[in-house]
Amino acid sequence: MDEERIISSQVRNQEDTALDSTLRPKRLVEYIGQAKVKQNLEIFMAAAKKRGEPIEHVLLYGPPGLGKTTLAGVIANEMGVSIRVTSGPAMERAGDVAAILTNLEEGDILFIDEIHRLPKTVEEVLYPAMEDYSLDLIVGKGPSARVLKLDLPRFTLIGATTRISMLSSPLRDRFGATYPLSFYEEDEISQIIARSSRILAIPVEESANTIIAQRSRRTPRIANRLLKRVRDYVDVKGDGIITESLAYDALGLLEVDALGLDMVDRKILAAIVEKFGGGPVGLGTLAAATSEEEATIEDIYEPFLMQLGFLERTPRGRMTTDRAHEHLGVSLDSPSKLFG
Ligand SMILES: Nc1ncnc2c1ncn2[C@@H]1O[C@H](COP(=O)(O)OP(=O)(O)OP(=O)(O)O)[C@@H](O)[C@H]1O
Ligand SMILES: [Mg+2]
Repeated sequence: MDEERIISSQVRNQEDTALDSTLRPKRLVEYIGQAKVKQNLEIFMAAAKKRGEPIEHVLLYGPPGLGKTTLAGVIANEMGVSIRVTSGPAMERAGDVAAILTNLEEGDILFIDEIHRLPKTVEEVLYPAMEDYSLDLIVGKGPSARVLKLDLPRFTLIGATTRISMLSSPLRDRFGATYPLSFYEEDEISQIIARSSRILAIPVEESANTIIAQRSRRTPRIANRLLKRVRDYVDVKGDGIITESLAYDALGLLEVDALGLDMVDRKILAAIVEKFGGGPVGLGTLAAATSEEEATIEDIYEPFLMQLGFLERTPRGRMTTDRAHEHLGVSLDSPSKLFG
């Protein structure tokens, strides 16, 4: 389902993967926005370099597409070390993580994406590894089983998650630094679009850049993807330059509205207004009413709708706000106007 969503903030396909690797900043100076995180990281890295030690373990969290994986790569480049990339769901057994850890070199970075999805058994192997660079292997079975302690190189774990609340506290406590990534400012997204259009050699008029930036949900991955889609449109309908009116038409065709909302966002908001009088409505009920998965609503749609001030999470459930009603052009007294 998500496959068809142009404004999905998740990696959707091979094209995205290729796009990600060409457009990914390699150094901190190229990494646009997230000023506070960058300032803290600079000091964090400089201090470690000065002491001649690897940096402490870092936890990055925030909604999809904001640059967690990119930042992990930047940290590796800045520290001049290798990075080994894996993800929570890819590590099924304790042996998987043991194999990776024993193959690291001093100072290397192990990046674990979706770290909230690590199996418990794997997580437990990580505790001593993170704390004193040691690996406790259980050799043998039953009464003859014993624990073998292996020393590991001093490595840095960088974990990334979209759901920090799902991380166990023993794991969370073992990170030396935790950086939240937030949605970008519109002018930062404009800078990202300008940078990407330079790299991809796509001329974009400034006013067209603004139109794309406004619809990018303050998310770099979406900005890059919209840029590509608009370029496709312009290749067919224009003469190679992304002008304001072509950008406008292209995005209209993609059904992305002036705030970057698409049909699914509108469907979710409309369901709350239409079926539940503006809420509060529980997540499960909302998922059923919209045929979307709970986790998808929670991770993908809600963060941005809340960022816009269109949706509130209350203890009794989700509620739409007056701002949302204004944007949708409805009043709660006559919600049927929505579909009228
Ligand atoms: N600060 C930035 N400056 C410039 N480009 C960026 C920045 N952050 C991200 N990007 C671009 O956005 C794309 C997506 O970023 P990235 O893959 O790092 O997101 P993510 O947070 O890891 O997402 P996910 O949660 O889905 O793994 C990258 O390919 C990169 O080109
Ligand atoms: Mg990522």
